[in-house]
Amino acid sequence: MYKKRRIKKKIIFLGVGILLIVALIITGIKLFTHFTSNEYKLTEIGYNEKEVNNILKLDDTYINYALNNKYDDDLIPLTKEKWFVWTKYDEYKKYIKNIQKQPTTKEIDYQDIVTKVNTKTNYKYYTHTKKTNMNLGNAILVNKYYKLPEKYAPNDVVDIPTTYAFAGNQARKEVFEAFKQMADAARSDGITLIINSGYRTYEYQKNLYDNYEKANGKEYADSYAARPDFSEHQSGLALDIVTYGMTMDNFENTDTYKWLIKNCTDYGFILRYPKGKEEITGYAYESWHYRYVGKSLAKKIEKSGLTFDEYYAYYLNKE
Ligand code: DAL
Ligand code: ZN
Repeated sequence: MYKKRRIKKKIIFLGVGILLIVALIITGIKLFTHFTSNEYKLTEIGYNEKEVNNILKLDDTYINYALNNKYDDDLIPLTKEKWFVWTKYDEYKKYIKNIQKQPTTKEIDYQDIVTKVNTKTNYKYYTHTKKTNMNLGNAILVNKYYKLPEKYAPNDVVDIPTTYAFAGNQARKEVFEAFKQMADAARSDGITLIINSGYRTYEYQKNLYDNYEKANGKEYADSYAARPDFSEHQSGLALDIVTYGMTMDNFENTDTYKWLIKNCTDYGFILRYPKGKEEITGYAYESWHYRYVGKSLAKKIEKSGLTFDEYYAYYLNKE
């Protein structure tokens, strides 16, 4: 009887002991899992619960970045931006730092940061310039950061008859053919399109820019005219389109302009320097300046609602 009770006691002790050990092991595992979890590590770095949850929803690359760097409050807002590009992360950060250094620091506008860095407009105009990738044909980018080959001159320039342009104008053959179709279609709608300025040589563009500069200074010149080797007109792919009896400044109020905006992409042209996008394009709004990119690309750019500079950065740049 006494022996049986002792055995029972022993079994109970053993059971309790085993339970305790199991509980200890489970707690140990739980603690180990907790202290080695990304959640814990991120909290230790300084991220709050909401930030941790947001980071853990990101791709592994960003999670690893967060785990291996100091607390970074720009990480989540930047990665949420539609056009965020991971390879430009350091540049975004550098630009943010520069902005924060300025005495009039406003709240950080992450969309603006991403757009500017992507299109290089975080740099001063005509700095950090690169060679235009001429292999892209009609999709080449020519702006204040992308330069044509020195004194570039296309080899397929044609004279434009005065039924389509003011005297002395030229354009690349393909561009003129597309314009001709557009102008003929416009004419059948009672609209007259006239080219005010087409292809410009290096010398012509230089002269134009120098005159602007002499008359009104560099800043003014830079917002209206491109420097030589940086003009779409020199590429032969741009046309300034107007109608008779109209100044450039009033062109946007004409039916001709309305017609162009509605129809130009059908013929491969895009409005190159739109209103409200001056900081991205680097130029004042030009209702008359149309860039030929070919029909299919023009349609895509129109659908995207982006400037060509942005579209190029997101879809065409293969650097
Ligand atoms: N007016 C445009 C920007 C040019 O000079 O090419
Ligand atoms: Zn122009």
